[in-house]
Amino acid sequence: MKKRFLIINGPNLNLLGKREPEVYGDLTLSQIQEETSLKLANFDVEVDWFQSNIEGEIISRIGESLGEELDAVIINPAAYSHYSIGILDALKMVSCKVIEVHLTNTHKREDYRRTKLTAQGADIIMEGPGKDVYFLAIYSQLI
Ligand code: DQA
Repeated sequence: MKKRFLIINGPNLNLLGKREPEVYGDLTLSQIQEETSLKLANFDVEVDWFQSNIEGEIISRIGESLGEELDAVIINPAAYSHYSIGILDALKMVSCKVIEVHLTNTHKREDYRRTKLTAQGADIIMEGPGKDVYFLAIYSQLI
């Protein structure tokens, strides 16, 4: 049976490839998207990718997802992870699984990245593997 996923990416992730490549790698978000779909080619999955730099748009997209039949919402809230009560409140309404992902291991970075607010609305947190984190989040729901 087909499994459906929504992947939400927050601010500055649209600039992957250009943004601090030594930290985030040199692939763009669309290249990561393509790589992820290739890795999923043999699975019966549908993946909807959404990116916004605007907190309210992310909150609205989470709200819209309540009416969709999803197996999981996978979210990299980026900087909002550390302080957005609005995104946390929205995630608390989601009844399917919520997986918060980060490309980097934020525990090895600046102290201010240790505050994890939106993760309180997640069932699973995966961080640190780089570009493969989106594939791994989906794969974790297929095995
Ligand atoms: C990030 C980590 C956040 O601290 C940062 O603000 C980002 C990206 C990550 O994927 O590693 O924008 O979410």
